[in-house]
Amino acid sequence: MLQNMMIEMNQLVLNKLPLKLSVRYFTQVAEKLSEKVSTRPHTPVMVNEVIKYLKPSAGETFVDMTFGAGGHSTRIIESAPNIKIYALDRDPVAYSYAQAMAEKYPGQVIPLLGRFSELPSLLKEQRVLPNSIDGFIFDFGCSSMQFDVAERGFALSKDGPLDMRMDGFRCPDEPTAADVLERCTEQDLARIIKYYGEERQYKKIARALIEARYMFQSLKTTRELARLVESVLDKDFRTDRLGRFAHSATKVFQALRIFVNNELNEINYGILIAEKYLKINGRLITISFHSLEDTVVKRHLSGNITDNAANISSMRFQNYGKIFSHGQVVDMTESPWTMLHKHVILPSDEEIDENPRSRSAKFRAIAKVK
Ligand SMILES: C[S@@+](CC[C@H](N)C(=O)[O-])C[C@H]1O[C@@H](n2cnc3c(N)ncnc32)[C@H](O)[C@@H]1O
Repeated sequence: MLQNMMIEMNQLVLNKLPLKLSVRYFTQVAEKLSEKVSTRPHTPVMVNEVIKYLKPSAGETFVDMTFGAGGHSTRIIESAPNIKIYALDRDPVAYSYAQAMAEKYPGQVIPLLGRFSELPSLLKEQRVLPNSIDGFIFDFGCSSMQFDVAERGFALSKDGPLDMRMDGFRCPDEPTAADVLERCTEQDLARIIKYYGEERQYKKIARALIEARYMFQSLKTTRELARLVESVLDKDFRTDRLGRFAHSATKVFQALRIFVNNELNEINYGILIAEKYLKINGRLITISFHSLEDTVVKRHLSGNITDNAANISSMRFQNYGKIFSHGQVVDMTESPWTMLHKHVILPSDEEIDENPRSRSAKFRAIAKVK
């Protein structure tokens, strides 16, 4: 199963990587980030749709799994009296925003620093019980505070160290994107680029990365990586879904970011955790920005889960030719979720004009029914 393979892949490759980079480096980055974040907040995506489907009402409790700069949380808390929000983010910069919001709404906003997979222990410390939350929101991907700060190493358009860790200086021992490029085998790099980047030229790129290593070519900055991929795919002119020029390294950057942050497995855990903590009829909102994220959500919706992991391939392509009993089919397709609208919801043209980062958003509102 691809999902299981990805879990294995992340464990396998990450276990091999060394501990690097000094605390001083992270302290410097933290200082620089805190200077920059105050001037550059993140514009929340599809906020009206979030309020329409989350339907916050007085006294309800929510978990914002991706607090960022708190754009969604702010609208939720302002939409009814006495709302309580557990504000989770793995990024210390986002956590500092949540702390600022907690000062403004004492007792109503509870900042939590950690990953989706760490939420159960964080909620336990807060004495939050399963089946007690009215709504969860996930707004996947990176915030503007991550993309727009060159030192974080997420953006192709900004030269900075190839870092890409959402946890930033919180987990200094976590491997960076540069560590991955330095230490992974050619086969692992090819798999990362193929599965997480959905890049057709994965073999060619993986080969070039290994050759660069043998030639002692530096691959420590976003610009160095972008140039290398560009040189490998030089005749490949690419456009995005709106027909605009897309850099040939976009998919490689996406692949590394997903791998470094174990993003798809985190989404899988996150949805399982939301299911555990939501009340019956509690609402789950997901906003995804590429097909891999959306696929994990869809597999949960359709009940296509084995051993607590979302199956990446759809059911009709699994076990082709095998005949299942009625009970097995019911078991496999039973889902605790139901969609609250018929088709996936996309941002309006006006929102895309005002906030181009919303252009690839896909919105789903789901209710827990069992
Ligand atoms: C698109 S931003 C959210 C923006 C936010 N909704 C707002 O309105 O400002 C996504 C955020 O999710 C966080 N994030 C991504 N994966 C996470 C995970 N596994 N656990 C916790 N936070 C995560 C990122 O650090 C980032 O701050």
